[in-house]
Parts: sequence; structure tokens; C-alpha cells
Amino acid sequence: MELSGELRARYLDLLEKSLGNAIYGESEAEMALRSLLQRLRHPYLTRRGAFAWPARAHSMIGQARLRHLRGLVERTIHEDIPGDYIETGVWRGGASILMRGVLAAHGIRDRRVFCADSFEGLPRPDAARFPADRRDRLHAFAELAVSEETVRRNFAAYDLLDDQVVFLKGLFKDTLPGVRANRFALIRLDGDMYESTLDALTNLYDSVSERGFIVIDDYGALMNCKRAVHDFIDQRRLSVQIQPVDHSCVWWTKS
Ligand SMILES: C[S@@+](CC[C@H](N)C(=O)[O-])C[C@H]1O[C@@H](n2cnc3c(N)ncnc32)[C@H](O)[C@@H]1O
Repeated sequence: MELSGELRARYLDLLEKSLGNAIYGESEAEMALRSLLQRLRHPYLTRRGAFAWPARAHSMIGQARLRHLRGLVERTIHEDIPGDYIETGVWRGGASILMRGVLAAHGIRDRRVFCADSFEGLPRPDAARFPADRRDRLHAFAELAVSEETVRRNFAAYDLLDDQVVFLKGLFKDTLPGVRANRFALIRLDGDMYESTLDALTNLYDSVSERGFIVIDDYGALMNCKRAVHDFIDQRRLSVQIQPVDHSCVWWTKS
């Protein structure tokens, strides 16, 4: 089905809003209850406040990052930047669903969206190999463990689950070596930890096409993520122009 430019933009606007639950909105009562439960389960948070993950939205990244991601995927299409797309750290699937939606809106059938996740939450820190993660507690949050079945159901709810979506279940260190031979137009890293960020860069960077895009969700918000990015850049002696999307997310073009 050929969509006019205006209809395509309206479909993608609506998809973005739905993924961020911007239409119905998060219920304040539900958010307050979740925050209370989180404080009870993790008493050490009391002084620092609970994490405010959305109760219902299919993505936690917010409208600005969704809009920016859509723009980059559209650029890969308009500028003929070859390859597939991968998100490392999909949670409920929202950002990956958006990437699949952009392909659908443009009638693209020969590119895939890879969804890499443990689908069981974050790993415990491996302090021997990655001392930076030593104090990381994100593995303790049940809110971050979303099953593959749930993510598949979320894709299906938007009519976007098909053979252009590939699930890579397991820890990044085990699954990502298996896609090193693939070519990616865009990689989106959202695994929060030093280990998760470094594993993704180490395994995927060379598979990104020239002029392709690297997006790092947690760069500004989580110091271990930023440290992993710079350790990788330094190790590889890369010269990159890191650009902000908002207070946390950054991106650059591979050149
Ligand atoms: C912040 S959430 C991702 C948010 C998501 N991109 C969105 O649009 O809302 C982090 C995800 O990364 C996954 N994750 C983090 N480190 C991982 C690792 N080393 N291996 C596999 N999954 C990992 C977690 O299971 C979790 O689903």
C-alpha cells in the first residue's frame, strides 16, 4: 500500500504518541502506587527517591527521543544507508516497534529490526571484568524484566510483528557476537550499564555502515554508560562528533 507523505507522517505521529502513552497518559495514582512499592522493595532508595519508569507506556524513552529515532531511520531510507537496525535493551519494545513502524510506513521489506535483550532484566555486575559496574543495582528491579512473549505481544498489538523483526534473547555478550557479520544502518544502545554498553559497541560498531548512526540512550544520565562510550572511543582512537538529543540521549554518524 502506497501512503501519501501526509498520511505517513500522521501514522508515525500517532505511533509515537501511542508508544509513549501520550494519548491516554499515565495515571498519577498508578505511578504513586508503583513508586511506593519500589521504595518498599528497595529501601536503600528512600533518600534518593524511586525511579519513575512509566506504568503503561511501551517505551520509557519519551517523545523527544522517539521523534529523533524516527528521523534517523527515515534518513537511512532517504540517504540509502544500507543495513538493518538493532536495539540493545528493548524493555517493552517501544523504540524497536517504532523502527519497524517507520519501515512499514515507507513500504520497506528488505530491512529488519533486531531486538536484543535478556528479556529477564539487567545482569548482576561482573565487577572483576567491569569494575565500573561494581555498585550497579539495576539487576534488582523487577520492573526492568519484560518477557519476550510480552514484547512480541506488544509488536503484534500494533500489527508490526512479522519476519522483519528478529529477537536475540540472552545477554549481549552471548548473543551479539552472532550478528557481527550482519550490516546495520543504525544501532541503538539502551542497556544502561558499563558492561552492556561496551559489549554492544565492541560487537556491533564494525557492522555499522559508513554514514550509519549510533544512538546511546543513557550517555547523559548514567555515568557508567558514558565511561564505556569514551573507553571504547579511546581504545579504537575514533574521532566522532557526539551530538545531544536531550539531557541523556546522544548520537553520532559513523564516518
Ligand atoms: C532501560 S531498558 C530499555 C528501554 C527501552 N529501550 C525503551 O524503549 O523503553 C534496559 C533493557 O536492557 C536490558 N539489558 C541491559 N543489559 C543487558 C545485557 N547485558 N544483556 C541483555 N539485556 C540487557 C534489560 O533487560 C532491559 O530490558
